[in-house]
Amino acid sequence: METNLIGIRIGYVMTGSFCTFARSFAQAEKLREMGAELVPVMSETAASLDTRFGTGAENTARLAEICGRAVITDISSAEPIGPKDMTDILVVAPCTSNTAAKLAAGITDSAATMAVKSHLRRGKPVVLAIASNDSLLGSAKNIGELFNRKNYYFVPMLQDDIERKPASLVAEFELLPEAVNAALRGVQLRPIIYHPTEAIRDRAVSGTLFQKDFPQ
Ligand SMILES: Cc1cc2nc3c(=O)[nH]c(=O)nc-3n(C[C@H](O)[C@H](O)[C@H](O)COP(=O)(O)O)c2cc1C
Repeated sequence: METNLIGIRIGYVMTGSFCTFARSFAQAEKLREMGAELVPVMSETAASLDTRFGTGAENTARLAEICGRAVITDISSAEPIGPKDMTDILVVAPCTSNTAAKLAAGITDSAATMAVKSHLRRGKPVVLAIASNDSLLGSAKNIGELFNRKNYYFVPMLQDDIERKPASLVAEFELLPEAVNAALRGVQLRPIIYHPTEAIRDRAVSGTLFQKDFPQ
C-alpha cells in the first residue's frame, strides 16, 4: 500500500453512527501518521448527542485533538471549504444512512452535507465509509445512487452480522487509508462489498456459511 500522504489535505467528516466512532478515530490518527493534514467536520448530530459511546463534547474534543485544529460543526463554517480550496479529498467516516440519503437527494442542511457540497464544487473526490443497519433496505437506493455519481468513492463494506442485522453494511474502516490513496488516483478500491477471506466467500457460494464465522 502507498502510505505517503504528506501534504494531502483531507476533509474528515464524521456523522452520527456513534458505535463506529472508535474505529473512525483510529483511522483519523493513521491518516495523520501518514502525513495528511485533516480538516475536521462533524454533523450537528455527531457533535452534540451524548450516547453510550461518549458525550458530544468528548467526541468533538477527541477529533480536534487528533486533527490539531477546531472541528467545524455548523453549515456556515463548512461553507468556505470549496471556495477557499481547503481540501484535496474529503472523507465521510462514518457516513450514516441519513447523510447518504441527503447526498443522494442533493439536500444540504447540516455541516456534513455542506462540507461535501462545498468540496465537490471543485470536482475533487469524496470517500464514503458507510455504516448503517438498513444499507440493504431503505438506504439501498441512496447508496446505489451514489455508486453511480461522479467523484464518489467507497471504503469497501462488509455485511457485518448477516443473522441479526441482515440489511447491515459497514465499511471496513481499516481499509480507509487505502481507499483514500486509490480515490486520489481516481480508482475505486474493490471489491466494494468486502469478504473477509476467499475461504468465507467460497463457503458463502456453497451455502455453508454461518454467522459464527464472523468475529463479534
Ligand atoms: C447510539 C446511536 C447510534 C446510531 N448509529 C447509527 C448508525 O450506525 N448508522 C446510521 O445510519 N444511523 C445511526 N444512528 C442514527 C443517526 O444518528 C441519525 O439518523 C441522525 O439523524 C444522523 O444525523 P447525521 O447524518 O446528520 O449525523 C444512531 C443513533 C444513535 C443515537
